[in-house]
Amino acid sequence: MLQDIPTPTRRETSSCVLDTERLTLRRPTLADVRAIARLANDRRIAENTRRLPYPYLQDHAVNFVRTMADAGDNAFLIENNFVPIGMVGVSWSERDAPELGYWLGVEHWGQGFGTEAARATIDYFFEEFDFDQLHAGARVTNPTSRNVLEKCGFQWSGVELHRFEALGSSTPVDRFRLSRGVWSSLKNWTSALRRVR
Ligand SMILES: CC(C)(COP(=O)(O)OP(=O)(O)OC[C@H]1O[C@@H](n2cnc3c(N)ncnc32)[C@H](O)[C@@H]1OP(=O)(O)O)[C@@H](O)C(=O)NCCC(=O)NCCS
Repeated sequence: MLQDIPTPTRRETSSCVLDTERLTLRRPTLADVRAIARLANDRRIAENTRRLPYPYLQDHAVNFVRTMADAGDNAFLIENNFVPIGMVGVSWSERDAPELGYWLGVEHWGQGFGTEAARATIDYFFEEFDFDQLHAGARVTNPTSRNVLEKCGFQWSGVELHRFEALGSSTPVDRFRLSRGVWSSLKNWTSALRRVR
């Protein structure tokens, strides 16, 4: 995922950094390739992401960062306390169907970081690009990613077969969509204050 992205029309082109409560999302540089390769080189990640190879070598990370530099800042390195923990971004490999993708180093799973990074990237996408839909997919055997997508407001849209590089074959993937309308409703939905009478 996130390897081959021609930059579509964006409202502004400057590189940007996204800050959330616990995370900083920024453009990866060549200084990050060692960390990216160390985090990504795990079969449990490769088998759940379409384009990540396994084993994932430092050269893969170099190519990835160079491609990103040419294409624009559509992929973010995720940092927690200045430590790289994974990647998130939007891929335009299908030009009219931008797709959210993400992965975290295994030692960082299960702490809500995936959802936090996905939400920040979704906000960035709808605020910066003139698209009405963001797409995403999770292997039918990947309930964790499905959970992340549903917590972000994505709705299931069907099952497709997709090729996964690390598997060397195609496998069923649950497809999801998030519309600008749903995203905007979720952003505006503030909680009622509770009073005791
Ligand atoms: C997908 C991934 C980024 C999730 O990151 P994460 O930080 O662990 O996710 P979060 O903690 O934000 O949320 C995971 C949710 O799934 C739930 N979950 C975890 N394992 C689950 C399982 N086996 N069944 C059902 N739900 C599960 C968690 O409880 C959590 O939900 P909750 O907050 O309601 O409790 C991480 O697992 C990963 O990198 N996987 C490999 C790559 C991948 O799958 N990428 C996505 C496809 S592009």
